[in-house]
Amino acid sequence: MQVTVSLIKADVGGFPGHAQVHPKMLEYAAAKLKEAQRRGVIIDYFVFNVGDDISLLMTHTKGEDSPEIHGLAWETFKEVTEQVAKRYKLYGAGQDLLKDAFSGNIRGLGPQVAEMEIEERPSEPVIAFAADKTEPGAFNLPLYRIFADPFNTAGLVIDPAMHDGFVFEVLDVKEHKVYLLKTPEESYALLGLVGTTGRYIIRRVYRKDGLVAAVNSVERLSLIAGRYVGKDDPVMITRAQAGLPAVGEILEAFAHPHLVHGWMRGSHAGPLMPARFALIDPDRRMAIGPKMTRFDGPPKVGALGFQLHDGHLEGAVDMFDDPAFDYTRHVAAMIADYIRRMGPFQPHRLPPEELEYTALPKILARIKPYAADEYDSERKKYVDAVIRGAS
Ligand code: F6R
Ligand code: MG
Ligand code: MG
Repeated sequence: MQVTVSLIKADVGGFPGHAQVHPKMLEYAAAKLKEAQRRGVIIDYFVFNVGDDISLLMTHTKGEDSPEIHGLAWETFKEVTEQVAKRYKLYGAGQDLLKDAFSGNIRGLGPQVAEMEIEERPSEPVIAFAADKTEPGAFNLPLYRIFADPFNTAGLVIDPAMHDGFVFEVLDVKEHKVYLLKTPEESYALLGLVGTTGRYIIRRVYRKDGLVAAVNSVERLSLIAGRYVGKDDPVMITRAQAGLPAVGEILEAFAHPHLVHGWMRGSHAGPLMPARFALIDPDRRMAIGPKMTRFDGPPKVGALGFQLHDGHLEGAVDMFDDPAFDYTRHVAAMIADYIRRMGPFQPHRLPPEELEYTALPKILARIKPYAADEYDSERKKYVDAVIRGAS
């Protein structure tokens, strides 16, 4: 059967600050999707958060970019904003809903979208990822590891079905260009692009027979809004097993906490920590996810596993809820502690190009520089004037 898996997320209010969402927000969203399921709009759904972002995972038969499904997500986020976030004066209510009107597609309006229309295989394991205090390029490194690095994914060497490798679809978010690069043949060129995580983002990965294996969200909030409105905390869907990387090969890519951009004020680099959910409630189709604490972080990723059956989502299983990831969390906490000591210095603080949409340029505009050659010849005059308080 053809089924579309849509994962759409937005920050429509934090509790407290940007740390978490209010459980009532998740309850409201789950009730709204339950109603849509009852009406036959969607087959199944699951609602969860990582940090201050709510993710709506939905299955249906309406294909990618369906106005009905995008409209349902938009309406859900709007109502959660109005009925819960504003009522409790939660922080940044409606933050990611950047435009007032919905006109058929939620892309470009603020929320992040990862969707794949697939032919459901005899057994179809899928993993939904969401990360907070980071950006879509944060998934570049794990996606490369999962689908192109034989030291991560044994199947690339051992499984004849994967031996030919994969095709990576990379979006240049600045120039609006798309690259299709094959691995292993073009893996060095691929790395040349996707190592620049703020600009070249892996959007989809295909097996060489055309089967879609993974999809990552790529919306850039600052490019939409023209100002800083929070980093573009991403979501991603991966399929697993039977000629694709195993569930464990997918998770293995998160065992090393790589540095990502987007911590505190979207302006710092920090380790991506695989985190546990606080509560999984399969009956109510919702999960309360990890919260952001130290310095509003560190950046965290959560992963929920499902088995699809005729479009139904059997799950969720909290994939990082395993002592096997405790060591990774420990290493991430050590890296966080190490890099935090650098305070406002690079590379903990991001380079200026990545801060152009924040308030920093306004602050720097307040201080007055002198032309270096004039200053050099009359240094004493300038210094005396500053010391005496004249300008
Ligand atoms: C939000 C985020 C936070 C905020 C920070 C300041 O996703 O990353 O680190 O940037 O808490 O928030 P404001 O400026 O809203 O007080
Ligand atoms: Mg927020
Ligand atoms: Mg967030």
